[in-house]
Amino acid sequence: MPSPELAGLAASIDRIWDAGETSDHARALVERVLTLLDRGEIRVAEKTGGTWTVNEWIKKAVLLHFRLSPAQTLRAGDLEWHDKIPLKTGFEAAGVRAVPVATVRRGAFIEPGVVLMPSFVNIGARIGEGTMIDTWATVGSCAQVGRRCHVSGGVGIGGVLEPVQARPVIIEDDVFVGARCEVAEGVLVEEGAVLAMGCFVGASTKIFDAERGCALEPGRIPARAVCVPGTLPAGDGTHGTCAIIVKKRRDAKTDARTALNELLR
Ligand SMILES: CC(C)(COP(=O)(O)OP(=O)(O)OC[C@H]1O[C@@H](n2cnc3c(N)ncnc32)[C@H](O)[C@@H]1OP(=O)(O)O)[C@@H](O)C(=O)NCCC(=O)NCCS
Repeated sequence: MPSPELAGLAASIDRIWDAGETSDHARALVERVLTLLDRGEIRVAEKTGGTWTVNEWIKKAVLLHFRLSPAQTLRAGDLEWHDKIPLKTGFEAAGVRAVPVATVRRGAFIEPGVVLMPSFVNIGARIGEGTMIDTWATVGSCAQVGRRCHVSGGVGIGGVLEPVQARPVIIEDDVFVGARCEVAEGVLVEEGAVLAMGCFVGASTKIFDAERGCALEPGRIPARAVCVPGTLPAGDGTHGTCAIIVKKRRDAKTDARTALNELLR
């Protein structure tokens, strides 16, 4: 059950959204949502009773922020930007290691023990304890990344703001996303799954379980599946298209190859 404050805030955001309100009061309420997001006290998507649900009102608040806030000049030493969202600060107090030039926008929440190599994390995203976001990886707006994950170099985790009811990409706990993978369009990667280097997964990407000999529903990588990029024939047999192939379930060998060296943390 949401607290009375959250229930009231959700109702106000829905009203501001529907009425197209642009008052200072509206701006203050949107700002309050961003503060709660930034502190990790609310989240865009959460798992309750085994199912992920999207808090649409929070996504609405993030979108409203773009409408209601003017861009401002942001500075770090001699570097300068011009944007509507300030950068997140306070990594030391949060127990997060952020390597220069890791960039996190305010309204993203990073749990303690996360390592951010030079990477980008967008507003509304959430990164769980002990996860590493490796060099030049991007975590899109509202994407949810679980605990003890490795999001390898150059990975793209797609963001989603519109439509508001759209589910963000969700990477559950203990997932390994290999270098240069792209996961987009609300795909759910379940606990402990492994995506080998170069897997591209969207809502329409075909997924074939080679271990069990069957096609799987698109948009969901099953728990502990070890996936590699492959091809599957098109319906008329004239060509093949890129697909995800589940080769096996995670085993000790996979664990050894995907373990992060503790020294790197
Ligand atoms: C997925 C991975 C961890 C291998 O896991 P594994 O459990 O050791 O896999 P195996 O070697 O037992 O291979 C199982 C099957 O998958 C295939 N396979 C494994 N990795 C593959 C890859 N990257 N591409 C295509 N096929 C692959 C193997 O050929 C084998 O196929 P077979 O059963 O037909 O012989 C490894 O390929 C990988 O992608 N590592 C990540 C590297 C990386 O991104 N590092 C981070 C840098 S920042």
